[in-house]
Amino acid sequence: MFKEIDIKKLKCKLKNSSKNYKENFNKIEKYIKSEIDEILKLKDSKKSIIPEISFKQINQRNTEIVESIKKRGCVIIRDVFENMTIEKLNNDLEKYIEENNYYDDQKKKSGLDNYFSDLKSSKPQIMGLYWSKAQMEIRHSENMLKVKNWLNNLWIYKNDEYEVFDPSKALSYADRVRRREPGDNTLGLSPHCDAGSVERWSDDYYQKIYKDIFSDNFIKFNPFDAKYRDKTTEFESPAVAHVFRTFQGWTALTEQGPNDGTLQLIPIAKAMAYILTRALLDDVPKDELCGSKLGKALSVNKQYHSLLLEGLISIPIMKPGDTVWWHPDVVHAVEDKHLGKNYSNVVYVGSTPYCKKNLNYVQKQAKKFLKGESPPDFAAEDFETNYKGRIKIENLTPLAKKQLAIEE
Ligand SMILES: [Fe+2]
Repeated sequence: MFKEIDIKKLKCKLKNSSKNYKENFNKIEKYIKSEIDEILKLKDSKKSIIPEISFKQINQRNTEIVESIKKRGCVIIRDVFENMTIEKLNNDLEKYIEENNYYDDQKKKSGLDNYFSDLKSSKPQIMGLYWSKAQMEIRHSENMLKVKNWLNNLWIYKNDEYEVFDPSKALSYADRVRRREPGDNTLGLSPHCDAGSVERWSDDYYQKIYKDIFSDNFIKFNPFDAKYRDKTTEFESPAVAHVFRTFQGWTALTEQGPNDGTLQLIPIAKAMAYILTRALLDDVPKDELCGSKLGKALSVNKQYHSLLLEGLISIPIMKPGDTVWWHPDVVHAVEDKHLGKNYSNVVYVGSTPYCKKNLNYVQKQAKKFLKGESPPDFAAEDFETNYKGRIKIENLTPLAKKQLAIEE
């Protein structure tokens, strides 16, 4: 059970952090409006909105792109893997799914036999698979490590009190795969943020992270300051990750673009300031936070956030081996329908830097890996314990062992 939170009291306290909470919101709203205008103008003139960089360029001096990532809170890094490599891994993954009868297994384990029709689109599109060759190779590859290190270095990881994480080391967070078939209309995800919902208003450390927002210093708020991001406490729920990710992300296994049921983003790194202060306005019931619920993803909706939603855009065409990354405060969604002709497959790989919080989790995760079970953050479906082709400890590279905290 969740601990009781007195939202009324909480909102009173937060309102009092500001000299005038309405004026504070108005200032933030003005900033968001100008960002939205910019996004819409770029969209109208068909110019790119989400910063892009190719893997080969990441270690060159790139002040402009870095500034743009800090403003937009997201980036596409292209050609992290070669086409041939990804094609092979994608075939491997499809084989892993088919040969191990994942779909039948899923029906049995979810106890939903009677509810699944013969329609193809009733198949699950996001799968509780974590330890396939494709996922393990992508997660623990040298290239992925370079990308993660580069992304981690965009953050301020050291402050006057402590070092939040070691930017040169990464840990691996096992996540699922998406294999979305053409025509699917079951996977749409409405706009949301992960990494906590109500916690963002109630947790003591989130309060410190967002202090400048509530106390009329929005201009000083730096979403890339990692201080205390590793110390927040999430409510226990299967929907909430128990790690600190500098970026969430995925790697494309197949080509996919707008209308192929792809990712959508509101590319504004500071949008959280709007969401947080919006909840304090007088049209929101005193004991509510604009629809955010404990243990669920943070909701961004038409009723309260229509301005923000104007900035929701689909990411451009992704080729196999391209990756997309977004800051944990960035609002994202998944298109309702896959209108394309091919499978749109991705492997979810976020960036979990080396810090105590992540290490604690990865150590628990390692125990699950050794048995081929589902990782601690996910439902204990344990599909893969007897799967053919599952990666085991003897198949791991030294880099994989390190990132899985199996070896120093
Ligand atoms: Fe999400």
